[in-house]
Amino acid sequence: MTGLYEIETERLVLRQWREGDWVGLHRTYGDPEVMSWIGAAPADLASTAAAVGRMSMHWLLLGYGMFAVEERTSGEIVGRVGLMHHPDWPLAGPKIEVGWTLQRSAWGRGYATEGARASLAFGFDVLDLPQIFSMTRLDNARSRAVMERCGLTQRGELDFHGWRQVHYAIDRQNWPPPDAQEPSINIREVER
Ligand SMILES: CC(C)(COP(=O)(O)OP(=O)(O)OC[C@H]1O[C@@H](n2cnc3c(N)ncnc32)[C@H](O)[C@@H]1OP(=O)(O)O)[C@@H](O)C(=O)NCCC(=O)NCCS
Repeated sequence: MTGLYEIETERLVLRQWREGDWVGLHRTYGDPEVMSWIGAAPADLASTAAAVGRMSMHWLLLGYGMFAVEERTSGEIVGRVGLMHHPDWPLAGPKIEVGWTLQRSAWGRGYATEGARASLAFGFDVLDLPQIFSMTRLDNARSRAVMERCGLTQRGELDFHGWRQVHYAIDRQNWPPPDAQEPSINIREVER
């Protein structure tokens, strides 16, 4: 039996997906600019709802996954962040990626970095993973900056899912990065 978790940070609640969250997530998944960075067309509402279902199922099967990112001040869902299993990842080590996608109005506030750090803390402190990777298109400077702010280091390039990707990773012994401020991260297990 695998657990379900939620995390509170200074400005965010990273929580499990609930009925109806697809409406909020559609501000992210329905935006062509946002989706172009993850190599996808903008979703229609039914596809966003299906994506929420897949993220919930990932959690139930594996005990980790993508969290719904709720902004504490507004209570709005502003995107997704968390850990994702890639069974076809071709390199050695755990096939678990930390990733993030936020609606455009939530960019430029540090939310992706705040959510990513919380997700890494969950991966290392709760799941006890030895390593977590991240990947993005070479020209995705914003995503690469999130990786670097979280202490991931560049490991190489590869072709994956039809794109030339740059690959970063962080090993457990390097977590948390020494220059990181003491994070306010409260991880708790929740009922299934
Ligand atoms: C990738 C993505 C999540 C990054 O978002 P982002 O807003 O650039 O990243 P952060 O949330 O960490 O915010 C960092 C910015 O917030 C600023 N910021 C403002 N207030 C801040 C605060 N209180 N704390 C920290 N940073 C703050 C930082 O200075 C930085 O600004 P800069 O971009 O001018 O240097 C976003 O661009 C996105 O969703 N893109 C499309 C999907 C995508 O590419 N996903 C990743 C695929 S691999």
